[in-house]
Amino acid sequence: MTLETLLKGVPVIPVLAIRDLAQAVPLARALVAGGLPVLEITLRTPAALEAIRAIKGEVEGALVGVGTVLRPDDLDRAAAAGAVFAVSPGLTEDLARAALAGPLPLLPGTATASEMMRARELGFTAVKFFPAAQAGGPAALKAVAPVLPEMRFCPTGGVSAANMAEYLALPNVFCVGGSWVAPDAAIAAGDWHAITVLASEAVGRAVKTA
Ligand code: 3PG
Repeated sequence: MTLETLLKGVPVIPVLAIRDLAQAVPLARALVAGGLPVLEITLRTPAALEAIRAIKGEVEGALVGVGTVLRPDDLDRAAAAGAVFAVSPGLTEDLARAALAGPLPLLPGTATASEMMRARELGFTAVKFFPAAQAGGPAALKAVAPVLPEMRFCPTGGVSAANMAEYLALPNVFCVGGSWVAPDAAIAAGDWHAITVLASEAVGRAVKTA
């Protein structure tokens, strides 16, 4: 499946760092119940790959991707665990080559016009805009739209309930990513209901924008 097909109609990708494997399945279920079935499990914790495997096996309706992919072999490890897409904070030639030849469609990170041009040259027109807030926010994406009209962005980094609609209203933004729908405190407390509520609020905000 291509990234475009996979993410069609998905306005928000929760970005998750799962510390305790036992949290993976209830957290994923809470997000799916709130209307956010496409999840990015970042490779920032030792539990990440097992979390992908558990969600893939046990959470009906979830589509699991891997995040914080830095090296080509991260793609293979994540695909073996059951991930169906990959997200990276940036892009290297090695990673681009591996992704284009490999098992998982990649959403590579870009922050500047040169990085966006490079991503396009390497074959990626759908990219992450990271770190979105620090790299100029919605104003930066508005400014690059006329010069890189074929590029489509998923802003991530500092996206929140307060600003997600502003990003999604831009014609060159196809979704946003962020951790605000699954706050660490709610995960630690096992407050899955709070996470379902945050997810459905995000879906509601996205619908108003669409
Ligand atoms: C990412 O991993 O893409 C971002 O660090 C998530 O950023 P956020 O925590 O500001 O949403």
